[in-house]
Amino acid sequence: MAILTIESTCDETAAAVIGLDGSVLGDALATQTELHEHFRGVVPEVAARAHVERILPVIDTAIRKSGLKPEDLTAIAVAQTPGLAGSLLVGLVAAKTLAVAWEKPLIAINHLYAHIYACQLASEQSIYPCIGLVVSGGHTSLYDCQGPLDLTYLGGTIDDAAGEAFDKVAAMLGLDFPGGPAVSRAAASGDPKKFRFPRSMLNKPGFDFSFSGLKTAVRYELVGPGEKDFSQLNLSEQEIADICASFQQAVIDVLVAKSRRAIRESQAKRLCVGGGVAANRILRAALQQAADEDGFELQIAPPELCTDNAVMGAIALEKLARKEFAPLDIDIQPGLQR
Ligand code: KG4
Ligand code: ZN
Repeated sequence: MAILTIESTCDETAAAVIGLDGSVLGDALATQTELHEHFRGVVPEVAARAHVERILPVIDTAIRKSGLKPEDLTAIAVAQTPGLAGSLLVGLVAAKTLAVAWEKPLIAINHLYAHIYACQLASEQSIYPCIGLVVSGGHTSLYDCQGPLDLTYLGGTIDDAAGEAFDKVAAMLGLDFPGGPAVSRAAASGDPKKFRFPRSMLNKPGFDFSFSGLKTAVRYELVGPGEKDFSQLNLSEQEIADICASFQQAVIDVLVAKSRRAIRESQAKRLCVGGGVAANRILRAALQQAADEDGFELQIAPPELCTDNAVMGAIALEKLARKEFAPLDIDIQPGLQR
């Protein structure tokens, strides 16, 4: 017996069949990068349409890979919050339809809780209690996690998410989409101290973040205030590398400092990090250095489980154990529940 998990919160269409012991029996993922790269950002309407085309083939592939039949499934789980409305809707309608057709209970997954749970999938022991940091294209949030489903929101971005800032800076520089990997590749040969970009809200109490000012500071450096045309930029490879490295360092400094403070103030022993930006090697190293210096344990989701996927939907097993099923009239919840 196993559960089917469905993920369509943003621009990846994914499904997985996960055994009740947590083993991944089959998974499938269709990325939409090629549809959004021209716009250098996710276009919600394009994403929703692509989910419509792909969701059933992706679910079918995951089930076929597992060798199971629909009647072998115990429940159907789907990421229901937060995310892009149109994208969430496609996954939820698919999940509800299959739940009715196959007479299976429905389980609603919180996508951000699942990003943190991705750390659990790589750990023998329970990762809870911990401080959870989600750094993705849509969110930058810190949680006090007493259990997989027992999270208290500590703070998060008040404007752009960390990944969004990577994507926007990449777009200014004419680098590939998604911007995170492109910026970090360019940053590898750059000087992180070349430009002194702002570390917003670093010294403010609380756990909120802001990355919009950093993005604007990069823009001013490139084209000056009031200018938004980047087509005339004529930067050398080294200049691009230096901008990327300095920008990346500013993001990392803030993420590390706030996580450290959350650990210190809550007296937690463990920090667990997930989301697309957590794939960043320099961030991973900086967090490890902080963990070593401050004496806390660090778990970062394996790189392949940092970006959106359906395997982290294994968190639905925790709801299954509690028989916490969703009613069939449950709606999507695009906004962040604090
Ligand atoms: O978790 P995710 O796949 O989707 C959301 O839930 O938003 O995160 C995608 C984000 C994108 O903004 C992408 O640029 C960023 O994660 N990202 C990275 C790296 N890989 C992906 N950011 C920095 N460094 C990376 N290596
Ligand atoms: Zn995500």
